Amino acid sequence: MKEESESFIDTLKYQFLCCYPLHCIDWDAIPKGLTWEQHKQLIENTALQPLNKKYPIKISYQLNFLKRLLQQLEKHCDEVHDIVYESYCAVQQRVAKDTTEKYAYKHYVQPSLDVSITLRESKSFVAEGTTGLCSWQASIALADYLVQNIKLLRGKCVLELGAGTGLCGTIALQCCGVRHMLLTDGSHECIELMKENVLRNFREASEVNDGEYEIKGKLLNLCKLEWGSVSDMKWPNGFSADVILAADVVYDDTVFDSLTNAINYVFKIRDDKCEMLLAATVRNEHTLNKFLNLLSTLDFQYIEKDVMPLDKCNFYWDRTTPVKIFQITRKS
Ligand SMILES: C[S@@+](CC[C@H](N)C(=O)[O-])C[C@H]1O[C@@H](n2cnc3c(N)ncnc32)[C@H](O)[C@@H]1O
Repeated sequence: MKEESESFIDTLKYQFLCCYPLHCIDWDAIPKGLTWEQHKQLIENTALQPLNKKYPIKISYQLNFLKRLLQQLEKHCDEVHDIVYESYCAVQQRVAKDTTEKYAYKHYVQPSLDVSITLRESKSFVAEGTTGLCSWQASIALADYLVQNIKLLRGKCVLELGAGTGLCGTIALQCCGVRHMLLTDGSHECIELMKENVLRNFREASEVNDGEYEIKGKLLNLCKLEWGSVSDMKWPNGFSADVILAADVVYDDTVFDSLTNAINYVFKIRDDKCEMLLAATVRNEHTLNKFLNLLSTLDFQYIEKDVMPLDKCNFYWDRTTPVKIFQITRKS
């Protein structure tokens, strides 16, 4: 019973910190007959968790989470610890004040990998004319794939296209042994947000040039890269892409030509000694197929890779809409 409740509390902690959608949480897994001490632990590991106190996640999420937790505890236990009601009321009081706040934090924590990433993100899916100021499930799925296939990026120069908040690249840099990481996006606002997020997560980062950081002997560059202008890109010294990463960039077919041309351009300057890992959220199968067909016309081939199943994943993401991961190489 103790082990079951500890594991439930632990899982709920990581799910809460990254704002895992409430409908994805397995509320039925709540162990019956939790003690008062365990009610307290539930709150200390979620609403009162130090990361959340320092860098709060979305208040509306916290409120709905606590409401749901309260309902579950009331259903399964004779009495609920006061701390649960108190936390709910405390968050309720913060709701009105929070409505003007455009940003909140999310925490992607996995102690077994020594990963703890705190990102400030927009609360809206579209802000400042971009979808990149919040992180998307494909990015978490790709990060999970990379940490489970750690050799893929070890010692490599890695370019991320449309990196948004920098979630995937940041996790890869933290635990995949990347030699040189270049995070790019077409939006200036995304680059600024990435800078802020990088500096929060890598306290040891020293800026060696504008937008270039040295972190424990590895290099990280943050550059604006609009796919349609890839040939104008000033590549950082010593960087030549071994691997291209991209997550959730295949949704708008009006940019497919510029995106595939950018991919083609990078492969060409590397004499095709390069591969790409793409994570796509399949909102519309037809749109994805259109993109893959376009890649085929440019002499690329792709293999679909296994996405980490929920019971083996390191990070949580909403699986309501499937994510597919592709390894893309040039046909030989
Ligand atoms: C849905 S977001 C995905 C962000 C991030 N990869 C993630 O999964 O969390 C798409 C990203 O592609 C970027 N993007 C869209 N069109 C672009 C273009 N033509 N050139 C460069 N970046 C672009 C956007 O700014 C945005 O950051």
